[in-house]
Amino acid sequence: MADVRTIGVLTSGGDAPGMNAAVRAVVRAAIHNGFKVKGVRRGYNGLIRNDFIDLDMRDVSGIAQTTGTMLYTARCPEFKDPEVVKHAAENCKRAGIEGLVVIGGDGSFRGARDLTNLGGINCVGLPGTIDNDISCTEYTIGYDTAMNTAMEMVDKLRDTSRSHDRCSVVEVMGRHAGYIALNVGLAVGASYIAVPERPFVMEDMLAKITDAYKEGKRHFIIVVAEGVAERIEGGSTSIAKKIEEITGVETRATVLGHVQRGGSPTVTDRVIATRMGHYAVQLLTQGIGNRVVAQQHGVIVDYDINEALQMKKTLPLGLYEVADDVSF
Ligand code: ADP
Ligand code: F6P
Repeated sequence: MADVRTIGVLTSGGDAPGMNAAVRAVVRAAIHNGFKVKGVRRGYNGLIRNDFIDLDMRDVSGIAQTTGTMLYTARCPEFKDPEVVKHAAENCKRAGIEGLVVIGGDGSFRGARDLTNLGGINCVGLPGTIDNDISCTEYTIGYDTAMNTAMEMVDKLRDTSRSHDRCSVVEVMGRHAGYIALNVGLAVGASYIAVPERPFVMEDMLAKITDAYKEGKRHFIIVVAEGVAERIEGGSTSIAKKIEEITGVETRATVLGHVQRGGSPTVTDRVIATRMGHYAVQLLTQGIGNRVVAQQHGVIVDYDINEALQMKKTLPLGLYEVADDVSF
């Protein structure tokens, strides 16, 4: 495939703090390498609808510290249709886009793979999600900011929980993965942490609260990942009710929700987003596509998209033992 002269960039799926820093890095690195850049708005929808904007150095000034995505994002189920992918590739070619950086999750990477293989547009994926649940990389853009946001919120909950001798059940994001829950739970000194990767045994949690109460403990923080709460009828609220009913400790439930996707990105997110964006441009300017950029052992690397999609990553459940040993 010929070297690219214009690079496109889009964000897809759930937004994550640091996506703008990645867009900025892509734009600036591409221009420094003599390429033009077009932003594609609202993920793959923008490719289908020709929603392209020219991006110059100044268009991305001052965005590294902002959250959300300046390119907007969307989910685009129709992009699973090969005919739609081919149509999008034609639109890219008409706009002069020969290479594309796709910032998003696994679904976005599948779209990038199809656009490379079916449409002849070199694509490079960057892992962007607060959940840190992309297998090929130890780190995803947005994860650190989301954990810090959740930690600050739970610290605030502890303030009021302590004053009232209450238990707080806090639901954090992570429909399929417990990375946020486990690490935030450790950071706030939670009494109990429930993650989707490990069976949640309500009776075990209730017994631990009861025992600790008997020993004089008066306030409790229970961190529950969204994926665990979803499996229980009534979600976090029903977990809170059960705790109150069985242990007698007054309990409140708080769902942190989408606040975890906001806030100015931390230094970690800005730096990794910038390094990954820069790395993606190096690949595309060499005419290399169908790759995902990742971090392994602190080093930025890249994988074939199919290989990346087949990789497996497991939550370090050893951290759970640490949590057990330092709680209650
Ligand atoms: P999220 O987990 O936040 O939804 P993903 O990156 O996993 O983010 O998914 C983003 C979008 O990628 C989804 O809307 C999905 O429709 C789209 N997508 C494009 N092509 C594919 C594909 N071949 N398979 C699955 N999803 C795809
Ligand atoms: O960003 C990841 C994530 O927050 C998941 O934890 C959650 O399940 C999902 O996105 C919800 O996103 P939305 O409300 O945008 O569909």
